[in-house]
Amino acid sequence: MAMLRILLLGAKGQVGQELQKTLPTVGELVAVGKETVNLAVTEQSRELIVSIQPDIIVNAAAYTAVDRAETESELAHMVNGKAPTVLAEIAKQLGALLVHISTDYVFDGTQSHPYIELDSPNPQSQYGHSKWQGEQGIRQIWDQHIIVRTAWVYGAQGKGNFVKTMLRLGSERPEVRVVDDQVGTPTWAKDIGDAIASLIRHWSNSKPSTPAKIYGTYHFTNRGVASWYDFAVAIFAEAQALGFPLQIERVIPITTSEYPLPAPRPAYSVLSNSKITPFLGQPAPHWRQSLQQMLQELLADSSI
Ligand SMILES: NC(=O)c1ccc[n+]([C@@H]2O[C@H](COP(=O)([O-])OP(=O)(O)OC[C@H]3O[C@@H](n4cnc5c(N)ncnc54)[C@H](OP(=O)(O)O)[C@@H]3O)[C@@H](O)[C@H]2O)c1
Repeated sequence: MAMLRILLLGAKGQVGQELQKTLPTVGELVAVGKETVNLAVTEQSRELIVSIQPDIIVNAAAYTAVDRAETESELAHMVNGKAPTVLAEIAKQLGALLVHISTDYVFDGTQSHPYIELDSPNPQSQYGHSKWQGEQGIRQIWDQHIIVRTAWVYGAQGKGNFVKTMLRLGSERPEVRVVDDQVGTPTWAKDIGDAIASLIRHWSNSKPSTPAKIYGTYHFTNRGVASWYDFAVAIFAEAQALGFPLQIERVIPITTSEYPLPAPRPAYSVLSNSKITPFLGQPAPHWRQSLQQMLQELLADSSI
């Protein structure tokens, strides 16, 4: 069988950079960033994608500025809502598998047990609405899709994230105040890259009579539960143990209302991995284990 051609969009993001490492284990990879395929310019993107003739389109591109999306909602809806719908049309035209990434922000966070794929979305922010719009567009147009919802993503690569922000603040000051009444699961971008590669491997290995089993929506995060405060405390403890030069002495837990932001966050963001786990070969790593590995990687790159 000829090698699968995979087109990766959003190749320079946190998850995109990890997918650049894992996807070549599954097929021949063409990885492009915003400068080549800009999802806000969908007609131009359409021509380019069709000309590449991929067997699989993996969309790791998104408008991810959650707070800015409250005032730039048109662009957020264009990139996160309309563009995935166009990608589904292109995938259908090409007969390609579409793999797309979504978010815990499609939920309102009022639940107190892990969200499963069948729970009803009720986004509270413009970002959450735009991502939900993208999911729905894909489902309406092309059934040969895999949507992976994840949460609280951080990576060694990419522009910035909670871990990098904490390391910067912790190197500058003795005290930080961190929200303690929002809980979720910190998730390493590398683990998302591995999970997506596993799903695609299952898809490519499945017999023509059974492939439909893999299509649909999945939740994937690391294992365990933490508040942002717990996460910050762990980042400093692990980083100090590894010898990062930090000045931090105290992490002070605060409430969401003490740290108001333009976009509302779900208070409870834990996603259940039950559905995806059989496809992974092993349970997702615990968030603390992945945090340690990411910090070791950062230290080795000394890119902080
Ligand atoms: N970060 C999280 O905590 C989190 C949580 C849940 C789900 N997710 C989802 O996970 C996926 C990957 O997120 P991430 O954390 O890797 O985000 P990221 O680091 O911000 O990466 C997103 C990438 O998309 C690119 N992009 C933005 N607008 C674009 C456009 N119009 N056309 C093409 N590319 C565009 C960005 O380029 P520029 O940087 O140049 O704009 C960036 O390289 C997204 O679907 C996101 O919604 C993320």
